[in-house]
Amino acid sequence: MDRRAAVRQEFSRTAEAFTRRTRDRYRGLGVVEFARSRPGERVLEVGAGSAGFLKHFTEAGLAVALDLTPAMLELGRREHPWIACVVGDGGQLPFATARFDLVASALAFHHLPDPLPVLREMARVSRGRVLVVDQCAAEDPDQAATQTRLERLRDPTHAVSRPASAYRDLLGAAGVAVLDERLVEHRARLDRWITPEEFPAERIRAVLEFVEHEAEGTGMGFRREGGGWTYVRRILMLLGTVAAG
Ligand SMILES: C[S@@+](CC[C@H](N)C(=O)[O-])C[C@H]1O[C@@H](n2cnc3c(N)ncnc32)[C@H](O)[C@@H]1O
Repeated sequence: MDRRAAVRQEFSRTAEAFTRRTRDRYRGLGVVEFARSRPGERVLEVGAGSAGFLKHFTEAGLAVALDLTPAMLELGRREHPWIACVVGDGGQLPFATARFDLVASALAFHHLPDPLPVLREMARVSRGRVLVVDQCAAEDPDQAATQTRLERLRDPTHAVSRPASAYRDLLGAAGVAVLDERLVEHRARLDRWITPEEFPAERIRAVLEFVEHEAEGTGMGFRREGGGWTYVRRILMLLGTVAAG
């Protein structure tokens, strides 16, 4: 099965449970302020899913959610009818050059083996800012690779766990100048990341076994706590401006 079809299948299967689990993921992170977003702006999110991130841009003049998976967009549309939904691929955005003031992507780049063409498209359709939000792996390449292996056990459509330096390099390669950077870290429970309502039992078993034997190697700060595991969840926010913006 081709990668896009696999992503669509995975997120169609998990759409409802994913949306419930991640509902408050961005609450309190100040994403709108960090993005320097002003009322009335035109905002696009690539890989917007059910709009858990985009829903915070309530004062946008136009908010567009683009995603490969119609089932995810459908949930977003139901809860946030003010958001326009477009089914599409981040590598080929069906929008005119410089159409948006802000083009964001949150927690989608780790699904992309080669994110540069997507970032270039995001920069093309922005007349101002580009924002990339994603999980942030350790700078040590072995630890980042071990995190990638763990993530793929949980979700085979996970492509690569990248450190902050890789994201900075990507922005540079796409002609986007970094304006601001923020790393948000908090300790999270492993059992909330692999809930049985969202993931098949064999994947949960494989993750637990991996953590049991290779937790140290991930650089994710795994610790036994209260009868289970906790780890440090790291979210990177990188804001840039397009060269001509
Ligand atoms: C982990 S979800 C994140 C959804 C949302 N941004 C959020 O933070 O709640 C990743 C989303 O990226 C979408 N996606 C993956 N590859 C994509 C691509 N090449 N083009 C557009 N969307 C893609 C998936 O369909 C999925 O909805």
